[in-house]
Amino acid sequence: MAAAALGQILARKLFPVPWLLCGSRRCMSSNFKAADLQLQVTQRPQRKPSSNEQLLFGKTFTDHMLMVEWSGTTGWSPPRIQPFQNLTLHPACSALHYSLQLFEGMKAYKGRDQQVRLFRPWLNMDRMLRSAQRLCLPSFDKLELLECIRQLIEVDKDWVPDGAGTSLYVRPVLIGNEPSLGVGAVTQALLFVILCPVGSYFPGDAMTPVSLLADPKFVRAWVGGVGDYKLGGNYGPTVAVQKEAQKQGCEQVLWLYGPDHQLTEVGTMNIFVYWTHEDGVLELVTPPLDGIILPGVVRQSLLDLAQTWGEFRVAERKITMKELLRALGEGRVREVFGSGTACQVCPVHRILYEGKQHHIPTMENGPELILRFQKELKAIQYGASAHEWMLPV
Ligand SMILES: Cc1ncc(COP(=O)(O)O)c(C=O)c1O
Repeated sequence: MAAAALGQILARKLFPVPWLLCGSRRCMSSNFKAADLQLQVTQRPQRKPSSNEQLLFGKTFTDHMLMVEWSGTTGWSPPRIQPFQNLTLHPACSALHYSLQLFEGMKAYKGRDQQVRLFRPWLNMDRMLRSAQRLCLPSFDKLELLECIRQLIEVDKDWVPDGAGTSLYVRPVLIGNEPSLGVGAVTQALLFVILCPVGSYFPGDAMTPVSLLADPKFVRAWVGGVGDYKLGGNYGPTVAVQKEAQKQGCEQVLWLYGPDHQLTEVGTMNIFVYWTHEDGVLELVTPPLDGIILPGVVRQSLLDLAQTWGEFRVAERKITMKELLRALGEGRVREVFGSGTACQVCPVHRILYEGKQHHIPTMENGPELILRFQKELKAIQYGASAHEWMLPV
Protein backbone atom coordinates (compact mmCIF):
# COMPACT_ATOMS: atom_id res chain seq x y z
CA MET A 1 0.00 0.00 0.00
CA ALA A 2 2.73 2.43 1.02
CA ALA A 3 4.73 1.70 -2.13
CA ALA A 4 1.66 2.00 -4.35
CA ALA A 5 0.65 5.33 -2.82
CA LEU A 6 4.19 6.63 -3.12
CA GLY A 7 4.25 5.55 -6.75
CA GLN A 8 1.08 7.49 -7.32
CA ILE A 9 2.44 10.58 -5.61
CA LEU A 10 5.59 10.34 -7.69
CA ALA A 11 3.52 9.84 -10.83
CA ARG A 12 1.62 13.00 -10.00
CA LYS A 13 4.81 14.92 -9.45
CA LEU A 14 5.88 13.97 -12.95
CA PHE A 15 2.99 15.90 -14.51
CA PRO A 16 3.22 17.57 -16.87
CA VAL A 17 6.06 15.96 -18.75
CA PRO A 18 6.82 16.98 -22.32
CA TRP A 19 6.72 13.50 -23.83
CA LEU A 20 3.11 13.12 -22.77
CA LEU A 21 2.23 16.04 -24.98
CA CYS A 22 3.94 15.04 -28.16
CA GLY A 23 3.41 12.66 -31.03
CA SER A 24 0.40 10.46 -31.46
CA ARG A 25 -0.32 10.30 -27.72
CA ARG A 26 -1.52 13.87 -27.86
CA CYS A 27 -4.21 12.96 -30.40
CA MET A 28 -5.39 10.00 -28.35
CA SER A 29 -8.72 10.98 -26.89
CA SER A 30 -9.51 7.80 -25.02
CA ASN A 31 -7.98 9.66 -22.08
CA PHE A 32 -7.95 13.33 -21.33
CA LYS A 33 -4.75 14.92 -20.05
CA ALA A 34 -4.26 17.33 -17.18
CA ALA A 35 -1.55 19.00 -19.26
CA ASP A 36 -4.30 20.12 -21.69
CA LEU A 37 -6.34 21.82 -18.93
CA GLN A 38 -7.86 25.11 -19.98
CA LEU A 39 -8.62 27.65 -17.27
CA GLN A 40 -11.40 30.19 -17.49
CA VAL A 41 -11.41 32.28 -14.34
CA THR A 42 -14.74 33.59 -13.08
CA GLN A 43 -15.43 37.27 -13.57
CA ARG A 44 -18.02 37.16 -10.81
CA PRO A 45 -16.46 35.59 -7.72
CA GLN A 46 -18.99 34.77 -5.02
CA ARG A 47 -18.78 35.79 -1.39
CA LYS A 48 -16.93 33.13 0.59
CA PRO A 49 -18.55 32.02 3.84
CA SER A 50 -16.95 33.50 6.93
CA SER A 51 -15.25 31.20 9.40
CA ASN A 52 -18.08 31.45 11.96
CA GLU A 53 -20.82 30.73 9.41
CA GLN A 54 -22.50 27.33 9.68
CA LEU A 55 -22.01 25.39 6.47
CA LEU A 56 -24.78 22.94 5.67
CA PHE A 57 -23.67 19.92 3.65
CA GLY A 58 -23.79 20.42 -0.12
CA LYS A 59 -25.47 23.81 -0.18
CA THR A 60 -22.53 26.14 -0.81
CA PHE A 61 -20.43 25.80 -3.96
CA THR A 62 -17.08 27.30 -4.90
CA ASP A 63 -16.45 29.61 -7.86
CA HIS A 64 -15.18 27.02 -10.33
CA MET A 65 -15.89 23.53 -11.63
CA LEU A 66 -14.11 21.01 -13.80
CA MET A 67 -15.82 20.01 -17.04
CA VAL A 68 -14.76 17.38 -19.57
CA GLU A 69 -16.93 16.36 -22.50
CA TRP A 70 -16.80 13.01 -24.27
CA SER A 71 -18.12 11.87 -27.60
CA GLY A 72 -17.96 8.40 -29.09
CA THR A 73 -16.54 9.78 -32.32
CA THR A 74 -13.97 12.31 -31.08
CA GLY A 75 -13.29 11.00 -27.58
CA TRP A 76 -12.52 13.30 -24.66
CA SER A 77 -12.28 17.05 -25.21
CA PRO A 78 -9.56 18.94 -23.35
CA PRO A 79 -10.55 19.36 -19.69
CA ARG A 80 -11.67 22.83 -18.59
CA ILE A 81 -11.75 24.60 -15.26
CA GLN A 82 -14.58 27.04 -15.75
CA PRO A 83 -16.84 29.28 -13.67
CA PHE A 84 -19.39 27.26 -11.68
CA GLN A 85 -22.49 27.21 -13.86
CA ASN A 86 -25.67 25.37 -14.78
CA LEU A 87 -25.60 22.54 -17.29
CA THR A 88 -27.65 22.64 -20.48
CA LEU A 89 -29.03 19.18 -21.21
CA HIS A 90 -31.12 17.71 -23.99
CA PRO A 91 -34.50 16.68 -22.51
CA ALA A 92 -33.83 13.08 -23.63
CA CYS A 93 -30.46 13.03 -21.78
CA SER A 94 -29.89 9.39 -20.80
CA ALA A 95 -28.72 10.27 -17.29
CA LEU A 96 -32.16 11.75 -16.60
CA HIS A 97 -34.14 8.86 -18.09
CA TYR A 98 -32.14 5.73 -17.29
CA SER A 99 -29.85 6.77 -14.43
CA LEU A 100 -26.72 6.46 -16.55
CA GLN A 101 -25.00 8.43 -13.83
CA LEU A 102 -22.33 7.85 -11.23
CA PHE A 103 -20.57 9.99 -8.66
CA GLU A 104 -17.85 10.10 -6.07
CA GLY A 105 -17.41 11.86 -2.76
CA MET A 106 -14.13 12.74 -1.11
CA LYS A 107 -12.69 15.49 1.06
CA ALA A 108 -9.76 17.89 1.09
CA TYR A 109 -8.59 19.26 4.43
CA LYS A 110 -6.67 22.43 5.24
CA GLY A 111 -3.95 21.53 7.69
CA ARG A 112 -2.54 23.55 10.52
CA ASP A 113 0.20 24.57 8.06
CA GLN A 114 -2.51 25.92 5.67
CA GLN A 115 -1.61 23.21 3.16
CA VAL A 116 -4.67 21.60 1.55
CA ARG A 117 -4.55 17.82 1.18
CA LEU A 118 -6.89 15.23 -0.31
CA PHE A 119 -7.60 12.08 1.72
CA ARG A 120 -6.82 8.85 -0.18
CA PRO A 121 -8.22 10.18 -3.49
CA TRP A 122 -6.65 7.26 -5.38
CA LEU A 123 -9.27 4.96 -3.86
CA ASN A 124 -12.05 7.27 -5.09
CA MET A 125 -10.55 7.27 -8.57
CA ASP A 126 -10.44 3.47 -8.56
CA ARG A 127 -14.08 3.28 -7.46
CA MET A 128 -15.16 5.88 -10.00
CA LEU A 129 -13.57 4.01 -12.88
CA ARG A 130 -15.21 0.77 -11.71
CA SER A 131 -18.57 2.54 -11.69
CA ALA A 132 -17.95 3.93 -15.19
CA GLN A 133 -17.15 0.46 -16.51
CA ARG A 134 -20.31 -0.96 -14.91
CA LEU A 135 -22.45 1.61 -16.75
CA CYS A 136 -20.53 1.40 -20.06
CA LEU A 137 -19.65 5.06 -19.62
CA PRO A 138 -16.32 6.16 -21.09
CA SER A 139 -13.08 5.16 -19.45
CA PHE A 140 -10.48 7.69 -18.34
CA ASP A 141 -7.01 7.80 -16.85
CA LYS A 142 -7.45 7.94 -13.09
CA LEU A 143 -4.25 9.87 -12.40
CA GLU A 144 -5.03 12.43 -15.10
CA LEU A 145 -8.46 13.04 -13.59
CA LEU A 146 -6.94 13.30 -10.14
CA GLU A 147 -4.44 15.87 -11.36
CA CYS A 148 -7.30 17.89 -12.92
CA ILE A 149 -9.15 17.75 -9.58
CA ARG A 150 -6.01 18.79 -7.75
CA GLN A 151 -5.66 21.81 -10.02
CA LEU A 152 -9.36 22.69 -9.60
CA ILE A 153 -8.93 22.69 -5.82
CA GLU A 154 -5.78 24.76 -6.19
CA VAL A 155 -7.77 27.39 -8.12
CA ASP A 156 -10.45 27.46 -5.38
CA LYS A 157 -8.17 26.80 -2.41
CA ASP A 158 -9.28 29.95 -0.62
CA TRP A 159 -12.67 28.30 -0.33
CA VAL A 160 -11.29 25.48 1.81
CA PRO A 161 -12.35 26.27 5.37
CA ASP A 162 -9.83 25.85 8.15
CA GLY A 163 -12.03 25.62 11.26
CA ALA A 164 -12.04 22.50 13.41
CA GLY A 165 -13.68 19.60 11.61
CA THR A 166 -14.27 21.57 8.39
CA SER A 167 -13.26 20.46 4.91
CA LEU A 168 -13.87 20.82 1.20
CA TYR A 169 -16.19 18.15 -0.18
CA VAL A 170 -15.27 17.12 -3.71
CA ARG A 171 -18.03 15.71 -5.91
CA PRO A 172 -16.92 14.18 -9.25
CA VAL A 173 -19.81 13.12 -11.49
CA LEU A 174 -19.97 11.22 -14.79
CA ILE A 175 -23.23 11.19 -16.74
CA GLY A 176 -24.41 9.69 -19.99
CA ASN A 177 -25.60 12.56 -22.17
CA GLU A 178 -27.20 10.65 -25.03
CA PRO A 179 -29.89 12.80 -26.65
CA SER A 180 -32.04 9.75 -27.41
CA LEU A 181 -34.63 7.58 -25.67
CA GLY A 182 -33.10 4.23 -26.64
CA VAL A 183 -31.64 2.27 -23.75
CA GLY A 184 -28.06 1.52 -24.73
CA ALA A 185 -24.43 2.48 -24.41
CA VAL A 186 -24.04 6.23 -24.74
CA THR A 187 -22.12 8.05 -27.44
CA GLN A 188 -21.95 11.28 -25.44
CA ALA A 189 -21.00 11.88 -21.81
CA LEU A 190 -20.04 14.64 -19.40
CA LEU A 191 -17.60 14.41 -16.55
CA PHE A 192 -17.68 17.28 -14.09
CA VAL A 193 -16.44 18.03 -10.61
CA ILE A 194 -17.95 20.52 -8.17
CA LEU A 195 -16.67 21.57 -4.74
CA CYS A 196 -18.48 22.42 -1.49
CA PRO A 197 -16.96 23.84 1.67
CA VAL A 198 -18.51 21.87 4.52
CA GLY A 199 -18.72 22.35 8.25
CA SER A 200 -17.98 19.89 10.99
CA TYR A 201 -20.34 16.90 11.06
CA PHE A 202 -20.25 16.96 14.83
CA PRO A 203 -20.10 20.67 15.75
CA GLY A 204 -18.16 21.39 18.90
CA ASP A 205 -16.74 17.87 18.70
CA ALA A 206 -19.72 16.59 20.68
CA MET A 207 -20.41 13.24 19.10
CA THR A 208 -24.12 12.58 18.68
CA PRO A 209 -25.13 8.95 18.22
CA VAL A 210 -27.81 7.90 15.74
CA SER A 211 -30.78 5.57 16.04
CA LEU A 212 -31.59 3.10 13.26
CA LEU A 213 -34.66 1.47 11.76
CA ALA A 214 -33.84 -2.12 10.77
CA ASP A 215 -36.72 -3.44 8.68
CA PRO A 216 -35.95 -6.33 6.33
CA LYS A 217 -38.75 -5.35 3.98
CA PHE A 218 -36.49 -2.58 2.66
CA VAL A 219 -33.49 -3.78 0.62
CA ARG A 220 -30.74 -1.41 -0.53
CA ALA A 221 -28.62 -3.80 -2.57
CA TRP A 222 -28.66 -7.44 -3.59
CA VAL A 223 -26.25 -10.07 -4.90
CA GLY A 224 -25.79 -9.55 -8.62
CA GLY A 225 -26.98 -5.94 -8.33
CA VAL A 226 -25.03 -2.70 -8.26
CA GLY A 227 -24.98 -1.75 -4.57
CA ASP A 228 -21.20 -2.01 -4.57
CA TYR A 229 -20.94 0.77 -7.16
CA LYS A 230 -21.49 4.45 -6.46
CA LEU A 231 -24.35 5.00 -8.89
CA GLY A 232 -26.93 7.76 -8.41
CA GLY A 233 -29.65 5.17 -9.06
CA ASN A 234 -28.81 3.47 -5.76
CA TYR A 235 -29.66 6.55 -3.73
CA GLY A 236 -32.93 8.07 -4.99
CA PRO A 237 -35.03 5.07 -3.87
CA THR A 238 -33.61 5.30 -0.33
CA VAL A 239 -35.24 8.67 0.35
CA ALA A 240 -38.66 7.16 1.06
CA VAL A 241 -37.11 4.56 3.41
CA GLN A 242 -35.22 7.29 5.24
CA LYS A 243 -38.52 9.15 5.65
CA GLU A 244 -40.12 5.98 7.00
CA ALA A 245 -37.28 5.64 9.53
CA GLN A 246 -37.92 9.21 10.67
CA LYS A 247 -41.65 8.54 10.92
CA GLN A 248 -40.80 5.71 13.32
CA GLY A 249 -38.56 7.95 15.43
CA CYS A 250 -35.23 6.81 13.98
CA GLU A 251 -32.56 8.93 12.31
CA GLN A 252 -31.23 6.48 9.76
CA VAL A 253 -31.80 3.12 8.13
CA LEU A 254 -29.94 -0.06 8.99
CA TRP A 255 -30.02 -1.96 5.71
CA LEU A 256 -30.62 -5.67 6.26
CA TYR A 257 -30.23 -8.40 3.68
CA GLY A 258 -31.31 -11.99 3.18
CA PRO A 259 -33.43 -14.38 5.24
CA ASP A 260 -30.88 -14.24 8.07
CA HIS A 261 -31.18 -10.44 8.27
CA GLN A 262 -27.54 -9.60 7.69
CA LEU A 263 -26.44 -6.12 8.70
CA THR A 264 -25.03 -4.52 5.55
CA GLU A 265 -24.82 -0.72 5.76
CA VAL A 266 -26.14 2.24 7.77
CA GLY A 267 -27.77 4.97 5.66
CA THR A 268 -24.89 5.92 3.37
CA MET A 269 -22.22 4.48 5.64
CA ASN A 270 -20.47 1.17 6.11
CA ILE A 271 -21.13 -0.56 9.43
CA PHE A 272 -18.74 -1.79 12.09
CA VAL A 273 -19.30 -3.78 15.28
CA TYR A 274 -16.68 -3.82 18.04
CA TRP A 275 -17.46 -6.70 20.35
CA THR A 276 -16.30 -9.87 21.94
CA HIS A 277 -17.12 -12.51 19.38
CA GLU A 278 -18.90 -15.74 20.32
CA ASP A 279 -15.49 -17.44 20.42
CA GLY A 280 -14.40 -15.07 23.21
CA VAL A 281 -12.04 -12.99 21.05
CA LEU A 282 -12.25 -9.18 21.05
CA GLU A 283 -12.75 -8.08 17.46
CA LEU A 284 -13.74 -5.32 15.09
CA VAL A 285 -15.96 -6.72 12.37
CA THR A 286 -17.52 -5.31 9.22
CA PRO A 287 -19.33 -7.13 6.40
CA PRO A 288 -17.11 -8.33 3.55
CA LEU A 289 -17.07 -6.76 0.07
CA ASP A 290 -19.23 -9.52 -1.38
CA GLY A 291 -21.15 -7.43 -3.90
CA ILE A 292 -23.74 -5.71 -1.71
CA ILE A 293 -21.39 -3.43 0.23
CA LEU A 294 -20.00 -0.16 -1.08
CA PRO A 295 -16.20 -0.34 -0.75
CA GLY A 296 -15.92 2.74 1.45
CA VAL A 297 -12.68 4.67 1.66
CA VAL A 298 -13.14 5.29 5.38
CA ARG A 299 -14.09 1.60 5.85
CA GLN A 300 -10.78 0.59 4.31
CA SER A 301 -8.94 3.19 6.40
CA LEU A 302 -10.41 1.93 9.68
CA LEU A 303 -9.50 -1.64 8.76
CA ASP A 304 -5.97 -0.51 7.86
CA LEU A 305 -5.52 1.48 11.08
CA ALA A 306 -6.88 -1.30 13.30
CA GLN A 307 -4.69 -3.82 11.54
CA THR A 308 -1.55 -1.76 12.16
CA TRP A 309 -2.43 -1.42 15.87
CA GLY A 310 -2.69 -5.20 16.09
CA GLU A 311 -4.52 -5.00 19.43
CA PHE A 312 -7.65 -6.97 18.56
CA ARG A 313 -8.89 -9.18 15.74
CA VAL A 314 -9.97 -7.35 12.60
CA ALA A 315 -12.48 -9.31 10.54
CA GLU A 316 -14.51 -8.90 7.36
CA ARG A 317 -17.38 -11.28 7.96
CA LYS A 318 -21.14 -11.50 7.67
CA ILE A 319 -22.98 -10.19 10.80
CA THR A 320 -26.64 -11.16 11.39
CA MET A 321 -29.26 -9.51 13.61
CA LYS A 322 -29.53 -12.77 15.57
CA GLU A 323 -25.80 -12.65 16.37
CA LEU A 324 -25.96 -8.98 17.32
CA LEU A 325 -29.00 -9.43 19.59
CA ARG A 326 -27.39 -12.45 21.27
CA ALA A 327 -24.19 -10.46 21.86
CA LEU A 328 -26.22 -7.54 23.22
CA GLY A 329 -28.06 -9.89 25.59
CA GLU A 330 -24.75 -11.33 26.78
CA GLY A 331 -23.19 -7.87 27.24
CA ARG A 332 -20.51 -8.52 24.61
CA VAL A 333 -21.15 -5.48 22.38
CA ARG A 334 -18.85 -2.51 22.97
CA GLU A 335 -19.49 -0.17 20.05
CA VAL A 336 -21.54 -0.10 16.84
CA PHE A 337 -20.79 2.62 14.31
CA GLY A 338 -21.00 3.74 10.72
CA SER A 339 -18.11 5.01 8.61
CA GLY A 340 -18.16 7.39 5.68
CA THR A 341 -16.62 10.50 4.19
CA ALA A 342 -19.32 12.81 5.61
CA CYS A 343 -18.96 11.94 9.30
CA GLN A 344 -15.83 9.74 9.29
CA VAL A 345 -17.13 7.63 12.21
CA CYS A 346 -20.66 7.87 13.60
CA PRO A 347 -21.84 6.07 16.76
CA VAL A 348 -25.08 4.05 16.88
CA HIS A 349 -27.01 3.93 20.18
CA ARG A 350 -30.35 2.35 19.29
CA ILE A 351 -31.84 -0.08 16.75
CA LEU A 352 -35.58 -0.52 16.17
CA TYR A 353 -36.05 -4.10 14.93
CA GLU A 354 -39.22 -6.18 14.69
CA GLY A 355 -41.10 -3.59 16.72
CA LYS A 356 -38.61 -3.62 19.61
CA GLN A 357 -36.09 -0.94 20.63
CA HIS A 358 -32.61 -2.30 21.27
CA HIS A 359 -30.19 -0.08 23.16
CA ILE A 360 -26.57 -0.26 21.99
CA PRO A 361 -24.10 0.72 24.73
CA THR A 362 -21.73 2.51 22.30
CA MET A 363 -21.64 5.81 24.19
CA GLU A 364 -21.32 4.15 27.60
CA ASN A 365 -18.19 2.45 26.33
CA GLY A 366 -16.39 5.73 25.67
CA PRO A 367 -16.88 5.31 22.78
CA GLU A 368 -13.26 4.35 23.14
CA LEU A 369 -12.60 2.94 19.69
CA ILE A 370 -14.64 5.56 17.82
CA LEU A 371 -12.79 8.40 19.56
CA ARG A 372 -9.46 6.77 18.80
CA PHE A 373 -10.35 6.40 15.12
CA GLN A 374 -11.57 10.03 14.98
CA LYS A 375 -8.35 11.24 16.61
CA GLU A 376 -6.06 9.21 14.32
CA LEU A 377 -7.95 10.22 11.18
CA LYS A 378 -7.88 13.90 12.18
CA ALA A 379 -4.17 13.73 12.85
CA ILE A 380 -3.60 12.31 9.36
CA GLN A 381 -6.06 14.63 7.58
CA TYR A 382 -5.15 17.94 9.26
CA GLY A 383 -1.66 17.02 10.35
CA ALA A 384 1.32 19.10 9.39
CA SER A 385 3.45 16.07 8.66
CA ALA A 386 3.30 14.21 5.37
CA HIS A 387 1.33 10.99 5.31
CA GLU A 388 1.15 8.53 2.44
CA TRP A 389 -2.67 8.69 2.50
CA MET A 390 -2.69 12.43 1.80
CA LEU A 391 -2.20 14.07 -1.56
CA PRO A 392 -1.01 17.66 -1.19
CA VAL A 393 -2.87 20.18 -3.33
C1 LIG B 1 -23.91 3.29 0.46
C2 LIG B 1 -22.65 3.86 1.02
N1 LIG B 1 -21.92 3.10 1.84
C3 LIG B 1 -20.76 3.53 2.38
C4 LIG B 1 -20.30 4.81 2.12
C5 LIG B 1 -19.00 5.26 2.71
O1 LIG B 1 -18.01 5.38 1.72
P1 LIG B 1 -16.79 6.35 1.91
O2 LIG B 1 -16.08 5.90 3.15
O3 LIG B 1 -15.97 6.16 0.68
O4 LIG B 1 -17.35 7.71 2.03
C6 LIG B 1 -21.03 5.64 1.29
C7 LIG B 1 -20.57 7.00 1.08
O5 LIG B 1 -20.34 7.46 0.07
C8 LIG B 1 -22.22 5.15 0.70
O6 LIG B 1 -22.93 5.92 -0.12
